[in-house]
Amino acid sequence: MPFFSQTVQHIRSSEIRDLMKLATRPDIISFAGGMPNNDLFPVAEVDDIILNMNPDIKKMAFQYGPTSGYPPLLETLKKYLKSKGLPVDTHRLMITTGSLQAINILGMEFIDPGDLVLTENPSFIGGIAVFKAFQANIKGVPLQHDGIDTEALEQILETEQPKLLYVIPNFHNPAGIIYSMEKRKKLLELLKDKDILLLEDDAYNELYFSEKARQLSKPLMAMNHDGVTMVYTGSFSKILGPGFRLGWMLAPPDIYEKAQIIKQGIDACSPNFTQVIANEFMKKGYLEQYLNKIRKEYAGRKQLMQKSLKKYMPEEVTWTEPEGGFYFWLKLPQHMNATEILKESVEKGAVFVTGKTFDPEAKRNNYIRLAFSNMNKNDIDKGIQIISNAIKKNILVHS
Ligand SMILES: Cc1ncc(COP(=O)(O)O)c(C=O)c1O
Repeated sequence: MPFFSQTVQHIRSSEIRDLMKLATRPDIISFAGGMPNNDLFPVAEVDDIILNMNPDIKKMAFQYGPTSGYPPLLETLKKYLKSKGLPVDTHRLMITTGSLQAINILGMEFIDPGDLVLTENPSFIGGIAVFKAFQANIKGVPLQHDGIDTEALEQILETEQPKLLYVIPNFHNPAGIIYSMEKRKKLLELLKDKDILLLEDDAYNELYFSEKARQLSKPLMAMNHDGVTMVYTGSFSKILGPGFRLGWMLAPPDIYEKAQIIKQGIDACSPNFTQVIANEFMKKGYLEQYLNKIRKEYAGRKQLMQKSLKKYMPEEVTWTEPEGGFYFWLKLPQHMNATEILKESVEKGAVFVTGKTFDPEAKRNNYIRLAFSNMNKNDIDKGIQIISNAIKKNILVHS
């Protein structure tokens, strides 16, 4: 057998994926999946789009398309991003096969083995996996309730020269938090004239639960970021469906040019079929309607979960109430091992993801991530009670 590449020696199976296998037991209540509930997808709208599509456009949907994306979708998306204050006139837009592909492309474009990459700790497992695959030296910068710990970041920048900093300022996965305006400004100030690529992942931008959160969720790239080289990524996964495999990357022209060449070698173009549908979905005004519906739905689910957490969790467990997105991120007592809690919970019928999955060093494990987006909402209360009981039992055993 030939030797595996160095790359695969640096990748590890995601605990989430392994857990998903467990979570297929029909009776289990799963807080593990960070995805929408199947019953929420805009199936009727997509049916309408397909049934009423112009036959020439329909034929084209079967065809290859330009690497940078289906031109009408690029135009529609540009208008949409411009309305969010994003610099679509000075930057270039590329459609990618999910926003995870955008992160991958940037990894290939910028990371050599051993390069220092900073992520928040915790961070999105997909991003961590990409940086690991490119053999980056990943360092986690602590995340606080209002954003990245800028003091810790400042200290790192005094002595080290990272290549890239990866952040998720809005409705963070897994931490559920949103950056404060102070943290946003301080971050951009710290990176000014530093030759560090700032990668802003805004996959959850639209999923705010209040006007206050909407205002705060303005992208970093829409702020004055003179002297900071930035790439912005977004996704259709949370606002239409992950099965479309569509995301985007907004980048300065020189970064965009190289990204396009890299994408040509990966998949030539993202699926034309789903791009055509996504374009119609936006143009017909379905997106705004759908967003209004799911924001209410997720806010309601968040409310239910907050109520159950308050009802059942022991006082040793703390969390920040999310203002948008899919997740609660619970802090357990320092000594507690979330994997032990998980084993007990699975036995009793509830599953979630342990904290160390999201730690770039895969160590810190006194946190758990609970997604409220995916399961049957009538199961929230029962599931939270099961997990709370597992935590209480663990506290008793160790006291
Ligand atoms: C923070 C974050 N970024 C990116 C993605 C990837 O999304 P996509 O489906 O667009 O590849 C996810 C998916 O869960 C995510 O949570």
